[in-house]
This record gives sequence, C-alpha cells and structure tokens, in this order.
Amino acid sequence: MQKQPTKKIYIKTYGCQMNVYDSNKMLDLLRVFGYTETENLPEADLVILNTCHIREKAAEKVYSELGTIKKLKEKRKASGNEMIIVVAGCVSQAEGDEIFTRAPYVDVVVGPQTYHNLPELIAKVSREKKIALDLDFPLVSKFDSLPDSQKIDGYTAFLTIQEGCDKFCKFCCVPYTRGAEYSRNLVEIYREALLLVEQGAIEISLLGQNVSAYHGLDHEGKEINISQLIEHLAKIPGLKRIRYTTSHPNDMFEDLAKLHGTEEKLMPFLHLPVQSGSNRILKAMNRKHTAERYLNIIAQYRKAKPDMLFSSDFIVGYPGETDEDFEDTMELVRKVRFALAYSFKYSIRPGTPAAVLENQVPEEVKSERLARLQALLAQQQDEINQESVGKVCNVLFEKKGKYPGQILGKNEYAQAVCAIGDESMFGKILPVKVNVVSGNTLSGEILN
Ligand code: 5AD
Ligand code: SF4
Repeated sequence: MQKQPTKKIYIKTYGCQMNVYDSNKMLDLLRVFGYTETENLPEADLVILNTCHIREKAAEKVYSELGTIKKLKEKRKASGNEMIIVVAGCVSQAEGDEIFTRAPYVDVVVGPQTYHNLPELIAKVSREKKIALDLDFPLVSKFDSLPDSQKIDGYTAFLTIQEGCDKFCKFCCVPYTRGAEYSRNLVEIYREALLLVEQGAIEISLLGQNVSAYHGLDHEGKEINISQLIEHLAKIPGLKRIRYTTSHPNDMFEDLAKLHGTEEKLMPFLHLPVQSGSNRILKAMNRKHTAERYLNIIAQYRKAKPDMLFSSDFIVGYPGETDEDFEDTMELVRKVRFALAYSFKYSIRPGTPAAVLENQVPEEVKSERLARLQALLAQQQDEINQESVGKVCNVLFEKKGKYPGQILGKNEYAQAVCAIGDESMFGKILPVKVNVVSGNTLSGEILN
C-alpha cells in the first residue's frame, strides 16, 4: 500500500464504551492510510463525530456541533485546505441522509456496522468531490475488514465481542441503530486479546450491547457462551483482569455467576441494568423479566462471590409509571444495595414504540422521582465506599492523581483509588489499605 503524506484527523466520541472502541478502530484503520491524530480541531484535514443516540436530543446536539465545524471548514477552504467531515455512529444510523439535508457541508455519513469502509468513502469524497452514505447492515462482518493493531491507552483495553440487540425494549433506539445481535468468533477475539496484552493491556473489558447473550463459535465450530469464552481468555498469561458489560437480566445464567467464584481473573463487579423495580412497568417496557428474576440473579452472584458489587441503569417516569410503581423501584434498590448507578428521566426517542404513548408522566413528577432515587443511590454508594475503609484492595495503577506524588487506579470492584506512589507503579496491581474516602475516590497506602 502506498503511503500518503501525513494528514491530521480529529475524532470526537460521544456515548458508551462501544463507541470508544469503535473510535479507536477507526483511528487504527486510518493510520494505515497516513492519518495521525490531532486534538486541535482547526488543523484537522478529517473530522469524525462518532455519535451516540441514546441521550435526549442527541441528534440536535450533533447538528449544533456540526454548525461550529462548518465555520472551521469554510476557514480552511479559504486558505486552500480541505476539511472532510464524517458523521459516524448511532445518530448517523437513525438520521440517515437527513444529515445531508440539514448539514449539507457534511461529506460522509457512516453507520456503526460500516465504518470499516471509511478509507474508501473518504477517498471517494476527496477524488470525486461527492458525498458518501453507507448505512448498511452488511452480511460480512466489519470485524473481518478491520486492522488487528490497536493502540491502547494505559493498561486497560476494550474488546467488542458482541454487537447489536434483539430485545426491543420499548424506550430504546439501540436495536434500530446497532442492528441485530451478532457474536464474534473465539479465534478472532482471542487473537485480538493477545495483541492487546502484547501492547501492555492488563485488564480487558469485553463489550457488547448485550454481552451475556454472546454465542460465538469456538475453534472447533462449536457454539460457546460468554463464560466459556472467558475461560479461554483467562488462559492468556499477561492478562490479569477480565470484565464484561453490558448484560440483560434475561441472558444471565448460573454458570456465569459461578465463574466469579472460581476464576480469579474475573472481577467481582457486575453492571446489570434493571430500569425499573415494578413488574407492571417492566412489562410495559417489554423488558421480559421481573423484579424477582433480577433479585434472583443478584442472589446467585452473591452466593458465588459474596463480595460482588453491583451497578445498574434506571429509568424513572416511563409512560404510565404511578407513585406505587416508583416505590417498587425504590424497594428494589434497597434490597440490592448498588455501588454505582446511572439513572435517567424517561425521555422520548423518536421512532421507538414508547415515543407515541399518550400516558407520558409530567416533567415535574419525573424530576421529583429522579431526585429521590438519586439520593438513595448516592447514599448506598457512599456507604459501600465507607465500608472499604480499613480493608485491603488490589489496585491497577494507571495514571497520576490530582496532587503531586499521587497516583490513581481502579480496584477489583471498579472503584477509583489513589495513593502516594510514582510512575514505576503504573501497570502494576498493588495491595492498598484504604484509609479514607473523599467523594467517590478511596485513598490509602500501598502495602510493601
Ligand atoms: N429515556 C431515558 N433513558 C434511556 N435509556 C435508554 N433509552 C432511554 C430513554 N428513552 C437509558 C437506559 C439504558 C441506558 C444506556 O440509557 O437506562 O440502560
Ligand atoms: Fe436497548 Fe438494552 Fe433493551 Fe437492548 S436490552 S433494547 S440495548 S435497553
């Protein structure tokens, strides 16, 4: 392949870890074609907005950002330079060619399943001065076309093992933007994990919209589940920590819970969105699980690994949610005790079934419920953080802390921990005795 002179690429990533992973892959792909990354937007020859559609008014925020970029593009054009603008990610998939209508200065619109075609699409724009749209859900996986190499930042890396979702929760846009469920095969995943470890990764988070539904093929063509996949990956010597996110309660199974009790590399932390504690609302949301099932899964995990900590996602004020339904959510939270949580007021995502429901909950009711839920979740998080005082946890140190001489990392429970130390400790997992908690950061002293 012929190398071109270095061009600068600016990439802005919105949303979840899947998008962070995709952005890294786009960078890997374009490096091969002579692009280097810049954080200085005005000097970029190529700008990529890797968008997320899950938050409220996501598309509007992207259009507003595009308005700013348009001015920079005009400036560069006046000085004889190019600025190719790419909109990638879930907003692209949801908006389609509407983006070219509302922002005619955008050159390429590409979806989460087709960004491996970026070099070709960019070349087409550059050569033929045409716009390019690629939003297919191709039959051949994009993973077959992506480069192996991945530049990793620090000692933790993400690895996508599964994509898409067939659950169709009524509030959610993911099944429409990311498409149907797809699992990568063991050999591909194992190879990527080896390369990540070779580059210095000590911890790998296995990613997917619904990772616990993983059903890829192993080296003998036999279908395996996520716990079998983890058992394979755990054999990689340099890999010390494995996590997986995000799961759906209906795809959880006892072997996966049990594996936390036997596989030391599997970290004792689970993010398991519940959304609501009311069976009536769960049914209305098309979640296909009950509050009891959720509590059962938590119990299975606690049985297998008593020190497990949990996090979740919540939506308050889903259409038709009554005070009683909301109290059921509060009750579920009290029963579980969450170490971390993400909670949102329900908001309309155009095109989803819940968007057209007439029994929408008034904004002030949603705000009041969210405030109460968040107060309870913050109290639980604080109590759980306080319980670690006096105990020893194991911290993978990765970067400098806020104050001179301080270093920062994550413990096995995904809590942020800082201690006095130096850069030689980066990339090591060290025992830390926790002395004090401030905000959501634990601090302590490194033992020995
Ligand atoms: N309104 C509010 N929150 C939502 N989420 C997804 N769709 C919506 C919506 N329409 C939340 C869910 C999901 C998280 C990623 O975003 O809690 O788990
Ligand atoms: Fe969206 Fe998760 Fe439901 Fe899938 S399981 S539709 S990604 S909320």
